[in-house]
Amino acid sequence: MAQTVAMMIYLFFNLLSHSFLPCMSSGFSLKLIHRDSPHSPLYQPNLSDFERFKKNTKISEARASYFQQWSEAMGKGNSNKLQNVSLRLPLKYHDPIFTVELGLGTPVVKRTLIFDTGSGLTWTQCKPCIRCFKQDQPLFDTRKSRSFKIMSRKNRLAKSFKCTPIGCVYYIGYYSGQISAGVVSVENFAFQTTAGVHRVPGLVFGCGTTNLGNFPPKISGIFGLDKEPISFARQLGSLIKERFSYCLQAINSNTKESYLRFGDEAMIRRTNAQSTPFLKTKQNAILYGLNLSDISIGGQKLGLKQGTFPEGCVIDSGSSVSLLNRIAFLAAKKFFTTYFSKFKNIRRYVGREVPKGFLCYTQPNGFTNFPNMTYHFQGADFHVPSANLFFFERKFFCLAMVTSPNVTILGAYQQRNVRIVYDLKDEMLSFAPEDCAKDAA
Ligand SMILES: *[C@@H]1O[C@H](CO)[C@@H](O)[C@H](O)[C@H]1NC(C)=O
Ligand SMILES: *[C@@H]1O[C@H](CO)[C@@H](O)[C@H](O)[C@H]1NC(C)=O
Ligand SMILES: *[C@@H]1O[C@H](CO)[C@@H](O)[C@H](O)[C@H]1NC(C)=O
Ligand SMILES: *[C@@H]1O[C@H](CO)[C@@H](O)[C@H](O)[C@H]1NC(C)=O
Ligand SMILES: *[C@@H]1O[C@H](CO)[C@@H](O)[C@H](O)[C@H]1NC(C)=O
Repeated sequence: MAQTVAMMIYLFFNLLSHSFLPCMSSGFSLKLIHRDSPHSPLYQPNLSDFERFKKNTKISEARASYFQQWSEAMGKGNSNKLQNVSLRLPLKYHDPIFTVELGLGTPVVKRTLIFDTGSGLTWTQCKPCIRCFKQDQPLFDTRKSRSFKIMSRKNRLAKSFKCTPIGCVYYIGYYSGQISAGVVSVENFAFQTTAGVHRVPGLVFGCGTTNLGNFPPKISGIFGLDKEPISFARQLGSLIKERFSYCLQAINSNTKESYLRFGDEAMIRRTNAQSTPFLKTKQNAILYGLNLSDISIGGQKLGLKQGTFPEGCVIDSGSSVSLLNRIAFLAAKKFFTTYFSKFKNIRRYVGREVPKGFLCYTQPNGFTNFPNMTYHFQGADFHVPSANLFFFERKFFCLAMVTSPNVTILGAYQQRNVRIVYDLKDEMLSFAPEDCAKDAA
């Protein structure tokens, strides 16, 4: 920390500040690229589909364990400063699912960032840097940008940071050993859209000068869209009519990118939309938690008792497959066991390639009786068709959900082909089924 403060002082006396170019517009979008799309900088061509599925499941499990510890710390009222809480979190595994590309500074330089609805402050590695992880893009050189400024402690967001008379610092720990710390700064951001470049001046972000741990070299920071006032979603505020949206495609060889849309573009065009409020419990102060009461499979309610989901269900884009807490998973597993036992040529499949905790079955030729699932949220039913409920290999298929002791997450695999709108003004999530492959730029 002392080093960071020293660097901040250094930056302070070496950087010039300039005024921004104002610009207003009602809607814009960003490409959202899944790690398994050949267009992704994170794409791993050598993995089989099942290996990718396993990897994505591990990412989701790691994510759940992160949320769990976070939620415990928040519940105990230890601190509402995630920056501090998360520093102590041990985590085995971390990899992003989606990346976005945007522009930063004047002149604009391209940044590839992790898209994360579970993170607050957007940050990127900055030059001059004390410790930076290896990244392919050149570090963001603050001295080369005419619009770079250090955030004033008079900024309304200053109370979210540790400030001294000369400025503020941030310190975020992600997962095990990954840290980004540096100077809280202000810059112009540029979003490339089909209508041209959309510029947003004066956004507060983290200029990371001390960044440790393993991040993929293809990325140079995090694009945070959680509920905190420091997140881009909240900072963009009325500029994006306080809403953003996405419609995730199923990934296959023909898949192009999905789109993250803001403002007027973040709309449900169909009439069959449903809405459910975000939970406002202490543990959900930052995350997009939804009030989940029960789950149906194949049209039958599991009959989960009230209180099965005390912290609700987090809708998350950084998890691929969904997670059900222990009680709900056991009930679902029991249902599937009974359900598939009715078909005489279907058996549990436990091949060598199948990790412990996966629920897989042999897949007879021509079998089509796959059940669907419905999440019963407060005032809205979120339907998961069987194509999003299972992962299909040739010989077998697996439930695309695993368990976590206490955390329930609605992951990206189950959100495919649904238009999802995060409405920060009315504090609710709206959704409707949509063919996301048709959600062109
Ligand atoms: C991927 O496979 C190719 C050919 O099979 C091999 O040359 C290459 O080293 C592999 N790359 C990785 C990262 O494993
Ligand atoms: C973080 O925690 C440490 C000790 O637990 C404390 O000294 C420090 O002030 C805290 N930082 C913030 C930003 O709350
Ligand atoms: C889910 O499956 C049940 C049982 O097969 C069926 O009755 C119901 O219509 C399905 N729900 C949807 C939305 O497809
Ligand atoms: C969750 O929804 C149920 C109705 O479905 C309601 O009774 C309960 O008060 C809600 N819980 C919270 C924390 O809003
Ligand atoms: C899960 O929650 C229960 C109480 O609801 C608690 O006893 C248990 O320790 C928690 N498990 C974990 C792994 O935190």
